[in-house]
Order: sequence, then structure tokens, then C-alpha cells
Amino acid sequence: MMSVARRLRREENRTIGLVPTMGALHEGHLSLIHEARALCDVVVVSVFVNPAQFGPAEDFEAYPRDLTRDAALLAEYNVDYVFAPTQEEIYPDGFSTYVMVENLSNKLEGAARPGHFRGVTTVVSILLNIVRPHFAFFGQKDAQQSIIVKQMVRDLALDSEIVVLPTVREESGLALSSRNEYLDQQERRAAVVLNRALLQAHAAYDAGDRSASRLVDLVRGTIEAEPLARIDYVSLNDAGTLEKIDKIDEHPALLSVAVFIGKTRLIDNIVLGQTQKSAATALA
Ligand code: PAJ
Repeated sequence: MMSVARRLRREENRTIGLVPTMGALHEGHLSLIHEARALCDVVVVSVFVNPAQFGPAEDFEAYPRDLTRDAALLAEYNVDYVFAPTQEEIYPDGFSTYVMVENLSNKLEGAARPGHFRGVTTVVSILLNIVRPHFAFFGQKDAQQSIIVKQMVRDLALDSEIVVLPTVREESGLALSSRNEYLDQQERRAAVVLNRALLQAHAAYDAGDRSASRLVDLVRGTIEAEPLARIDYVSLNDAGTLEKIDKIDEHPALLSVAVFIGKTRLIDNIVLGQTQKSAATALA
């Protein structure tokens, strides 16, 4: 671990980009890596299934792991360093310091998954401190995570810039996710309903509807019509503060869903109230 830090010292005068992942890489991860490659001299991808961000009843054990396949993909993408630490390297015996972004971490995914973001911000701050990248790349797919990491970087004066990139989807509209591997064929078809419901709300928004309850009900109705789907939450929030809103005004709003398809929990979101071009920066 130390040698990674030493070899990537900023004094080398090259820009360093970090893409933190939990492996089981797909085109969503690869889009971040592609951007990192375009923007930075040195690209580091971390692969670490972080136990601290999984709840006791969650899928830490079952989470897909295939470092051989991931490493081959990363070689194709000309990644300079793959950082795949063991659990003991990140959390040695006696580990006892956690990073917690208050407020933002208790909403949406944080309310549904207590302790999740404490695990995320802890591991991301460790990774940022080990690699010390100029830029770290995150996906809009996990919109709340990106917002929280930005807040952490601001609050702790960490010397990295967080870059947020758009969600990559299958042709069907299904957002790519490592957890899609859990879906059987029928479930995979059913999972398209998340994006379909969000797009319907987008169309209603474009047609002038600004009411949170109507937009949320529209999304709920569509998802409830899918027999394999069970809603965890559908929520419309300010895209900056994550406060719940009743009506969309001039601020961008985050419309997000968490849905069980069979036993698999999937999330997706869209931002309403901004041009497509500024989608990544609106979450700044
Ligand atoms: P993981 O789920 O592996 O995702 C790694 C990064 O890829 C995250 O920034 C996520 O938002 C992004 N990503 C996932 N699916 C995407 C998609 N379809 N399009 C665009 N980007 C996508 O998120 C984590 O890991 C962990 O919480 C981590 C940040 C690594 C901390 O443990």
C-alpha cells in the first residue's frame, strides 16, 4: 500500500485520476475509466468490495467478484494501476475511525440502508488519502453517493476534484449495475420498468407538470403495474440539498427510485429541471 502512495506522489508532476469501484466491472465503470484516461496522465482504478457499506442482511458475501476478468478489462483500457487491497489492508485490526457526512447520509438510500454512506465515505476518504488523486470519478447512477462525496471533499478540504458522469444504460434503458448479474431473464425484462417509469415522469415534466405528488404517483403507478417489482421508495428531492420538495421550481430536482425486482434491489434516478448538458455539473 505504501509503495502505491509513494509511486503516485504528486511531485511527479503528472495528473492522477482515481476511479473507485467494487469490481464486477461493466460499461458504466468503463465510461468513468475512459474519461479518467482522457483527463489524467496516471489512471488508478480501485477494486474493493467494501464491507463497511453493506448492512448485516445485505449481499456482501454474494456480491460478484472476479478480479481476473476485471484486471484483463482494465489492461485493455490502459489503466496504469489496479489497486485491489485486502480487507485487512483497509481495515486492519483495531481500525476505529469513520467518516460520516451528516444529514445527506440519512436520506433516501441512507434511510433505506442505515450506515451505508458512513461505510462509503470512510472507504472513499481512505482511498483518496492513499492515492491522492487530482480527480476522482463517480457515476450519476449513484446520485446521492456523488453528492455526499462532494460534500465530504469540501468539508474536509480534501485535495481532489470529484467528477460526476452520466448513467450508462443498456439499449433497453436498464441502468448498468453489478447487481444486474443477480437477475434472471424474466427479471431483467421486468427491471426495465425503473427507467420506463422515470422517463414517463420526464415526459410529464416536459409537458409542464411540476407537482411532486403527481410525478411520484406516475412513477409509482407504472412500477406497481409490473408484477415482479416491489417499490422501496420513489422520491423527488432538491438535487443539491436532497430535501424533499412538493413542487419543482428553478432548482434541479432529483427523481429517484429503489425497487426490488424479485430479491434484487435496484436504484435509478433522473434529474429534472436542467439541460442534458449540465446534468453532471448540476450535482456540484
Ligand atoms: P460501484 O457500485 O462498483 O460503482 C463504482 C462507480 O461506478 C460509482 O461511482 C458508480 O456510481 C459508478 N457506476 C455504477 N453504475 C454506473 C452506470 N450505469 N453508469 C455510470 N456510472 C456507474 O459505488 C461504488 O462501487 C462504491 O460505493 C464505491 C464508491 C467504490 C465505494 O466503495
